[in-house]
Amino acid sequence: MSVYEAIRRRRDVRAEFTGEIVDDTTLWRLLDAAHRAPSVGNSQPWDFVLVREQATLRKFAEHVAQRRVEFRDALPPERAATFEPIKIEGILESGTGIVVCYDHGRGGPQVLGRATVPETGVYSAVLAIQNFWLAATAEGVGVGWVSFYDPDFLADLIDLPEGIRPVAWLCVGPVDEFQDIPDLERFGWRAGRPLTDAVHHETYRG
Ligand SMILES: Cc1cc2nc3c(=O)[nH]c(=O)nc-3n(C[C@H](O)[C@H](O)[C@H](O)COP(=O)(O)O)c2cc1C
Repeated sequence: MSVYEAIRRRRDVRAEFTGEIVDDTTLWRLLDAAHRAPSVGNSQPWDFVLVREQATLRKFAEHVAQRRVEFRDALPPERAATFEPIKIEGILESGTGIVVCYDHGRGGPQVLGRATVPETGVYSAVLAIQNFWLAATAEGVGVGWVSFYDPDFLADLIDLPEGIRPVAWLCVGPVDEFQDIPDLERFGWRAGRPLTDAVHHETYRG
């Protein structure tokens, strides 16, 4: 699959996991793709915690379900009705969770390129996620990014040392197919905008 094809086919997956577990050889290929991402000062500030214990997956799924209810309850009635049928995670169905973590201390006190823009560290971890996501798409493996969690809860759940923060929980597992249209668009939550709206000339207002 070409890079463009993988970019076009990539989806955030929630409902299409087959229930099989991604095999370790494939998983390590995907992690290797993630680990080749560019990073500020070559700091490689990411770590990947692989979670397959049923008890841990269940605890996290219960926590996310609570956060989902809180989000729904804070919505105006019309938006709550649109949100209700939308699945926001596939934690148990995927069978594999990968917590992508960020270590601001990695790379020492002088990270080349991070002095004036501290967020470049987290940007780097997110690039590793995107590499993983595109490689997974090419392998027929679905990825679903879950962010409905309290970071302290997740840090405790996987025993993160002080100073290391979770950036994402990725649900990872084989899929039979990828949806053509993003779920949030299919369910009427929010559609994408055209590229021409995102491109500006010379200044933001241009
Ligand atoms: C930083 C980030 C956090 C996200 N968190 C969630 C989430 O908690 N639950 C969910 O269902 N999707 C989540 N998504 C997926 C987006 O909803 C999805 O990428 C978007 O709707 C576009 O769909 P597509 O990825 O299939 O193109 C997240 C995506 C990103 C980049």
